[in-house]
Amino acid sequence: MIPESFLQELLSRTDLVGLIDAHVPLKKAGVEYAACCPFHNEKTPSFTVSPTKQFYHCFGCGAHGTAIGFLMEYTGLDFREAVRDLASRAGMQVPETLPDRNEPRAAPRNLVQTMGKAADWYYGQLRNAQEATEYLKRRGVSGETAKLFRIGYAPPDWQNLAAVFPDYQAPELLAAGLVTENENGRRYDRFRDRVIFPILNAKGETVAFGGRLLESAGREKPEGDQGPKYLNSPETPLFSKGQELFGLPQARAGLRETDTAIVVEGYMDVVMLAQHGVRNAVATLGTATTSTHVKKLFRQVSRVVFCFDGDAAGKRAAWRALENCLEAIGEQNLVAFAFLPEGHDPDSFVSAFGKDAFLQRIAEAVPLSDFLLRALASQCEMGSAEGHAKLLTLAKPLLARLSAPLLRLQIAKRLAEASGFSQQEVERVCDLRPVVPPPPPRAKRPAPSLLRTLIRDLLQCPELARRVPLESLPGDDPDSGLLRRLATLLLPEEGEGEADEIGSHAMLIERLRRRGEEELLRQLNSINQDLLRESFSREDIEAEFGTALEKLSELRSRREFEELKEKARKLGVSGLSSDEKARYLRLLARTG
Ligand code: UTP
Ligand code: MN
Repeated sequence: MIPESFLQELLSRTDLVGLIDAHVPLKKAGVEYAACCPFHNEKTPSFTVSPTKQFYHCFGCGAHGTAIGFLMEYTGLDFREAVRDLASRAGMQVPETLPDRNEPRAAPRNLVQTMGKAADWYYGQLRNAQEATEYLKRRGVSGETAKLFRIGYAPPDWQNLAAVFPDYQAPELLAAGLVTENENGRRYDRFRDRVIFPILNAKGETVAFGGRLLESAGREKPEGDQGPKYLNSPETPLFSKGQELFGLPQARAGLRETDTAIVVEGYMDVVMLAQHGVRNAVATLGTATTSTHVKKLFRQVSRVVFCFDGDAAGKRAAWRALENCLEAIGEQNLVAFAFLPEGHDPDSFVSAFGKDAFLQRIAEAVPLSDFLLRALASQCEMGSAEGHAKLLTLAKPLLARLSAPLLRLQIAKRLAEASGFSQQEVERVCDLRPVVPPPPPRAKRPAPSLLRTLIRDLLQCPELARRVPLESLPGDDPDSGLLRRLATLLLPEEGEGEADEIGSHAMLIERLRRRGEEELLRQLNSINQDLLRESFSREDIEAEFGTALEKLSELRSRREFEELKEKARKLGVSGLSSDEKARYLRLLARTG
């Protein structure tokens, strides 16, 4: 784990306003900055950034976080990637303790630079390459679209890059996959005479290329091996194709506007959809969709629609996508499958029938549960008892991988309908633990209670946690439960890399994140709407906190007194223990 002290310094060295402003133009509003929220659609700004407190908050949708959270939500980076990104901006070195198991090794900076330089060069080459530009024109790609995706061209010669990189033998060229070496150690460019599609990571850095043959009618089939239609960069420290999606950074605004990602198979599909105004499509890179892909998308949208060709290969690809995404689907997420008429891919479809016809297909996409059921049923003889049993047998391993309980329940229901078994039977056969429906939302509580004041103060000055009387909080109040959990999480504890005391709300956010308590933070923030706007001084907050604690203790005494009085009335004073008697007398003297 990255130590909290490091995170603390990282956040304080990060210019949050500058960071956010680069993506979402901010306007100054008092001591804070405001903008229309990038995380939900709105017309009047309710997204607020506090430079001094180092966090942002949206009063509309509740989006809330530090610079780290912003990068994660906005660009889809994961926690470590976001920390690394900020650290490199701040010129800090992330203390790498034990690396996480499936974490890719830190990408060396110079590989990124190398790839960037190559991308610029390929891009520059396109302009003078008549054959390549004609090819793209023939396929209907406009100059504007080519620019958006920075489509380039690698000329035919064997060692073009030697002119770009003075040291053609540099290890980076090989490590980045730009050159290959033959058995004599002689190097050649990997991409020759191909249209180049740069593949960018979430940060917008070039991490790989896809290169397409310029095949066309008039062109001589060159003798010898042309290689595959699309040649991709190999796996490198920067690039793992099971993780990256082509078109992701270009789709960012489109994803946000539609809250939907359309996953297609090909580079040209993404490119041509974008050109027709469908700006939320991304492509896997010649590989099946992985759960990492899907998780990445679900960090930015709540719906994912897979779009495949209508032929048998498309159906197979859809099924693999389904299998691989089951574990990545969260409770709020929707997955659906759209199929195009046979012989069409999204590129040819949108070019032939236009944007609206394509979006119509997306709107009519088959929900995952339907697709799953239909596909399984087609493998069973649904008229027979054996067929019904087989249906459940086939469904069982899939249901086991589904992490969203409600979706599982929904599918179990559908399986019951289709098979004639009762839902309980389906659940038993498929080893489904009964799903507990989520509790109904709690009724709104009246007027801010003392407990809520304490929670609010604690959110603003986390170091006050020490003063919360954990043992004597009322046991029967939900707010009391929230306060207790919050205070406990904030107390100094010998933990891996944890600071003793949390000194700011920004660090409170990060502490709760590392304990997996984001949900608690959301609940607490919904109690405390004026977290940001109120500019109380620390002294004011401490004073308010002290007063609330006193009142709480008074309330507790009064309640205890009433209880003892009641007991004495029922049992007589002799019914009280000597401790209780002493306590009763003391309270009597105090309350008068
Ligand atoms: P397609 O052959 O369907 O490509 O492969 P496409 O996008 O329709 O290409 P055009 O229209 O002929 O230009 C779909 C995707 O599979 C990967 C590429 O990512 C391609 O976009 N692919 C395909 C390869 O990686 N290598 C290949 O040889 C072929
Ligand atoms: Mn195609």
